Amino acid sequence: MPASAPLSLSQKFKLPNGLEYEQPLGLFINGEFVPGKERKTFEVVNPTTGKVVGEVHEATAADVDIAVDAAEAAFYDGSWSRMSSGERGHLLLKLADLLEENMTTLASIESFDNGKVFQQAKGDVYSCMGFLRYYGGWADKIHGKVIETSPGSFNFTKQEPIGVCGMIIPWNFPLLNCLIKIAPAIACGNTLVLKTADRTPLSALYAARLCQEAGFPPGVINILSGFGKTAGAAIASHMKIQKVSFTGSTVVGRQIMKAAAESNLKKISLELGGKSPHIICKDADIGRAVEWVNAGIFYNSGQCCSAGSRIYVQASIYDKVVEAFKKRAQAIVLGNPFDEASSQGPQVSEAQYNRVMSYIELGKSEGARLEIGGERHGSEGYFIKPTVFSNVTEDMRIMQEEIFGPVCAISKFKDVEDAIGKGNATKYGLASAVHTRSLNTAMEFSNKLRAGSVWINCYNAFNPALPFGGYGESGFGRELGKASLDDYTQTKTVSINLS
Ligand code: NAI
Ligand code: MG
Repeated sequence: MPASAPLSLSQKFKLPNGLEYEQPLGLFINGEFVPGKERKTFEVVNPTTGKVVGEVHEATAADVDIAVDAAEAAFYDGSWSRMSSGERGHLLLKLADLLEENMTTLASIESFDNGKVFQQAKGDVYSCMGFLRYYGGWADKIHGKVIETSPGSFNFTKQEPIGVCGMIIPWNFPLLNCLIKIAPAIACGNTLVLKTADRTPLSALYAARLCQEAGFPPGVINILSGFGKTAGAAIASHMKIQKVSFTGSTVVGRQIMKAAAESNLKKISLELGGKSPHIICKDADIGRAVEWVNAGIFYNSGQCCSAGSRIYVQASIYDKVVEAFKKRAQAIVLGNPFDEASSQGPQVSEAQYNRVMSYIELGKSEGARLEIGGERHGSEGYFIKPTVFSNVTEDMRIMQEEIFGPVCAISKFKDVEDAIGKGNATKYGLASAVHTRSLNTAMEFSNKLRAGSVWINCYNAFNPALPFGGYGESGFGRELGKASLDDYTQTKTVSINLS
């Protein structure tokens, strides 16, 4: 919407925990905060209350062009192209230190804008520091090979940066999704234009200010607030962007791939949705398994691409596990994310609230048994009680589609073969988990489950060193680990004729 009075580029915010800070509101382009070319702004909502808390400047296609030009200039002619790999790594380490110093502010912003509970928001900032330090360490260890062919030639490869990278991220982990992409891209020597999700623009703008402070040259990192259909689509089809890294829904992932194909055949990596199986075998430690199952689905209000939303329990322990799991889920405390007692906040937006509630209605109409939850908590904000459906069959839509909320489906399996068959009965393939005391059973599952991650006796075992990404319609490309460096470099082969 066009603002009636021009919106300033920053504003004092006071958060529910009493924290006061200066929130940047502009687009971060070429090292500065600026208004959008079309002078548009959009509203920021606190999902805990459903109230508008402010506005930020909105990027349109014209701003994407300006940001891309700045990123391209930095890539080819600026101080970035002359900087050593070690200095690039040092900048990432410096940014990590600044995140650490600003931990409370960043986590508070995240809880405020996204609704996640404060302790979990702190965990996200902590993870971001880990990504920056891990890839800061890699920056001066990325190199090619000498390849022997014949005495008359000398051949070597170089791992070169790709150029200007576009990044489009979702709202479930706003800061984390930002830095999981920025850290490896920068380590490899790229420059970038990143668009945040329109529901959660605040933490990345604050991080942009920290990038300024860390001393990244202008144009290397550009961060835009904006919508998918305008700024996002402009990134996906931009002729000067050489690579797009996208995290979000499978529907939009397809559009990104199409836009890349129809524009300049830019490289893409897609981190999409999932419907991950969480399997409990009869020989598992049931108490511990139930804890993992609970965290696997209800962490971050169920808004995780990796959520363990299909729970399969071996028939002989099924009743016992369902009872223990219901009890555990009912102990979750919904409430203001800043309350220390809260373990679950609201869904991110009214649209997501409605979407999740419609899946709950669908589950009932499909004939699944609603064990617990299924309704709103409180009278304001977008809170949904942890919801468990049992007697769910493989053909039901709540067993097949990503719900992205605190809703899971439980079903039985007979033996290992049956569990593997059911676990793989999905178009997705992001994550999976198995609880068993048998090493052989664990190995059989890890060999046969078709998913990018198999977690044994744990869940969401994320670490900067461990690659994460999808099989099937969960996408391609890997984030984290050394594998991510492959996504942000390209191989050049040089052959010298010595004869
Ligand atoms: P979305 O996929 O529409 O949004 C993700 C990002 O893509 C946002 O930054 C958005 O602005 C951008 N975008 C949207 N349309 C675009 C386009 N045509 N071109 C370029 N960029 C575009 O996800 P949304 O609508 O926020 O959530 C809907 C559902 O998607 C969720 O209920 C969930 O099932 C799934 N989702 C999955 C995520 C994951 O991490 N796997 C994250 C977010 C959503
Ligand atoms: Mg918000």
